[in-house]
Amino acid sequence: MPDVKGFLSDKEAEKLQELFLNVYHLGNILEIGTYCGKSAFNFAKVAERKNRIVYTVDHHTGSEEHQLGEEYHDEKLFDERLNKFNTLPEFLNNLIFSKMGKCIVPIIAKSEKASKIFEEKIALLFIDGGHSLETAINDYECWKNKICSGGLLVIHDVFPNPQDGGRPPFEIYSLAKESKEFKDHGIYETLGMLEKI
Ligand SMILES: C[S@@+](CC[C@H](N)C(=O)[O-])C[C@H]1O[C@@H](n2cnc3c(N)ncnc32)[C@H](O)[C@@H]1O
Repeated sequence: MPDVKGFLSDKEAEKLQELFLNVYHLGNILEIGTYCGKSAFNFAKVAERKNRIVYTVDHHTGSEEHQLGEEYHDEKLFDERLNKFNTLPEFLNNLIFSKMGKCIVPIIAKSEKASKIFEEKIALLFIDGGHSLETAINDYECWKNKICSGGLLVIHDVFPNPQDGGRPPFEIYSLAKESKEFKDHGIYETLGMLEKI
């Protein structure tokens, strides 16, 4: 696998594989937030062995924090030709080098738009998209009912202590936890994990 840019720790990457292995028998997986493919390739390691598909949704123009002048801006991912942040070329290069194209289906769209046409029930939903409160809640509301019973909702960057990081992922983790739709499986590093009832 190529050295892929991204924000997952090695332990989180391993945990994502383990979580998918626990539920792959229920169906395929969908993630919101491809970026350069790091989480998608980790899920794909399981998908390849178990004959499953990883759907990965991203408009590829970056979240708020990736834009020019923001904390997580990476100048190598700024597309001078389009004059905007653009992770699609890097993701496609990684996809070719990883040779995992057979089990990864990229969906290049805004999460909300993609949710309107996506009808399959999924075994695991990984939310790692935009971190504004509006975007995070939208991702949760638009996709949560597509998880099958017994399937998993996994949210990245969940920080119970506000001093450790932004709140929106924690807010949607709390929403799910307090709803009657999910059973809490706790937090591993920054992965909030819940099971659909
Ligand atoms: C934190 S990165 C994802 C990291 C990736 N999962 C990894 O493992 O490296 C968040 C991504 O979400 C995408 N994004 C933000 N808001 C979105 C939205 N409303 N619809 C689709 N993608 C969105 C951004 O373009 C960005 O690539």
